[in-house]
Amino acid sequence: MTTAPIQVEQLDFVWVLRIHRVEKKNALTAAMYEALTAGLEGAIADAGVRAVVITGGESCFTAGNDIGDFIANPPVDEKSPVMRFLRAVSTFPKPLIAAVNGVAVGIGTTLLLHCDLVYAGEGARFSLPFVDLGLVAEGASSLLLPQLVGRRKASELLLLAEPFDAATALAMGLINRVLPPAEVEAFALAQAQKLAAKAPSALQTTKALILRPQQDAIAEAIAVEAHHFAAQLRSPEAMEALQAFMEKRKPRFS
Ligand code: COA
Repeated sequence: MTTAPIQVEQLDFVWVLRIHRVEKKNALTAAMYEALTAGLEGAIADAGVRAVVITGGESCFTAGNDIGDFIANPPVDEKSPVMRFLRAVSTFPKPLIAAVNGVAVGIGTTLLLHCDLVYAGEGARFSLPFVDLGLVAEGASSLLLPQLVGRRKASELLLLAEPFDAATALAMGLINRVLPPAEVEAFALAQAQKLAAKAPSALQTTKALILRPQQDAIAEAIAVEAHHFAAQLRSPEAMEALQAFMEKRKPRFS
């Protein structure tokens, strides 16, 4: 059995991209972003793949960027692994379905904004703690969240950055359905298989049409956010916040 932190499972017409680093709550390193991007690119290149499911399994989706890796390998430009992943996920042309259990932190929540269907377990917990880490919104969340929930609620999510549960995520339209945790992945897979049986060209063209009005704005938001994100990452406040996490203490911003 493979223990790679990103596993690609090929089930007929559906691929499952599985994040598997449970001891670190599936926190994503640069190498893991690269593997996820390679998985998405492989799914595009293989005409037999009709839909992709992304999941972290039954215990957690992902705790977001690996904070130690952030310090060691900060994303500096367009070619950084996290940027390549964000571009891949936001332009992925085939149906992309997320199965979420446990924590979905930072990019674990923002990447859901780019999925076509999202299913979450009753205990799922979402959060966007960028500001608390001395960082800024990423993954086009500064554009897509206000569109989804309105400026008032988006400000609450991105500025106050308090975690929210699956029922709240459902009410705000971030996810499609809440299920018992043990059923989330099987349900997402069943939905993917339903999509895989449909006319592929009609399906992909319809997805492209849904995305078309804001495709350019999404790409621009990702790039502009990344510029500010990289600058903040070098700031004393981010250094303090990230170091505080590593040292398991509260950050001091005063
Ligand atoms: N980067 C690096 N390591 C992480 C991590 C991350 N984003 N998230 C969790 N881990 C590690 C913890 O340091 C811990 O490692 P240890 O066992 O060597 O001490 C292990 O994963 C388990 O995490 P723990 O904090 O004990 O689990 P928890 O259930 O109490 O809390 C979280 C889970 C996700 C709420 C908490 O770990 C957390 O807040 N993580 C940081 C999330 C974050 O800020 N991500 C960046 C977003 S941009």
